[in-house]
Amino acid sequence: MARKSRETFDSRMGMLLAMAGSAIGLGNIWRFPYMLGKNGGAAFILVYILMLVVLCLPVMVSEYLIGRRGEANPFSSFDKLAPGSKWRWIGFLAVLASACILSFYCVVGGWSVKYLADSCAMAFSSGQADYAANFGAFISNPWKPLVYTIIFLALTGLIIVFGVRKGIERMSKVMITVLFVIIVLVVIRSLSLPGAIEGVRYMFVPDFSKVTADTCIAAMGQAFFSLSIGCGTILTYASYVSKEENILASSAWISFFDTMFAIIAGLAIIPAVYAIAYMNGVEPDVSAGPGLVFITLPGVFSQMPLGGVAAILFFLALLLAAITSAISLMEVVVAFIIEEMRRSRAKAVLICFMLCGGVGVFCSLSFGPLTGFRLFGLSVFDFFDYITSNIMLPVGGLLLTVFAGWRLKRANFLDELTNGGKLRIPRWLSLTIYYLVKLVAPLGILLIFLNTFFS
Ligand code: TRP
Repeated sequence: MARKSRETFDSRMGMLLAMAGSAIGLGNIWRFPYMLGKNGGAAFILVYILMLVVLCLPVMVSEYLIGRRGEANPFSSFDKLAPGSKWRWIGFLAVLASACILSFYCVVGGWSVKYLADSCAMAFSSGQADYAANFGAFISNPWKPLVYTIIFLALTGLIIVFGVRKGIERMSKVMITVLFVIIVLVVIRSLSLPGAIEGVRYMFVPDFSKVTADTCIAAMGQAFFSLSIGCGTILTYASYVSKEENILASSAWISFFDTMFAIIAGLAIIPAVYAIAYMNGVEPDVSAGPGLVFITLPGVFSQMPLGGVAAILFFLALLLAAITSAISLMEVVVAFIIEEMRRSRAKAVLICFMLCGGVGVFCSLSFGPLTGFRLFGLSVFDFFDYITSNIMLPVGGLLLTVFAGWRLKRANFLDELTNGGKLRIPRWLSLTIYYLVKLVAPLGILLIFLNTFFS
């Protein structure tokens, strides 16, 4: 039976770091700072934290619980907990969503490989260049970004081939530790620039007049994406977790790590942008959107002392973060192929590589030769980004909480949450979690979701 041959994580720390490695990724370093810049700074952080506690933590607990109790990929986990029901197709959708995310994620991962290579060649160490034009020329080139996308995906696949303990757990442990050290170094460099303090103020002094309905939607989408919830990643990793772990504590730790990391990444970027603007006597602009990390930041590095080194460290951090997340996305698909289609791990990786690489090629080309090709008015890249973050993840999260809150028996839910009564979780706390899962989270997600499409 699959059960006996299934691997598990080796240690508690390894499990936490692998999950944190999944959560900490481009979402934190690339997406969070520009969402912050676009949505008004400190107020966005507060709304984000509210979404995190009220909506995302319950989704994460549900996913964790279903995965650990089901001990399988999303498809089989649902099938085991609700035999023969239609729920397993939700699991299948989760696998599909993971494949879709990986298909565009590997394109941005490829960009970070390219920017790391460039920074090692000291491309951002001195002088002025038109970084926007350079970035535009690179991503629209018909073949160069493809090469980097494939390199990125191949690196990811290589780690996965080694399995859960030797591949995922070991690499995540090393990478997340290195990542943390690097990003702290970049923060120190960034904060020590004259004028940086204005950027810190922007991040921490809230202006509530900037909070609109759009801020809430943006904050929820960002929180889902950043925590890797809603499409079976946490579920799959949880299926490798021992029965002794504390689901609630682990979920809270991962959310905490992830949020801290996003804020630290913000501190590495926003104050530096302010400081350089101050140096040049211009207004700081942190609302550059997706280009913030690839266009604004190289400009910042090129002007700051020791900027060449900071650039290498920063893009290395970006790549490490992207890889540990891509691993988790690929593992969802690979676990499904191994267990449902009975293929070896190596074959499963190869299938996933070809599938996501194939779609990834179209995502990448949509910045160049395929710009004119539209799906529902969006380029291929934007289409995948949009349907996954704005539709599949919230719907996935909604269904996960509905399953955990309504389809699982309350006694079973509480049994799994407290490890069969072995954990001393106060009754009021486990019941609060239960009702957050059963009522608050699904209704909250539904409301924000409807608001997005019918307002
Ligand atoms: N959370 C990762 C990031 O912040 C990306 C990611 C990994 C993800 N697995 C996921 C996003 C599952 C959504 C769902 O970059």
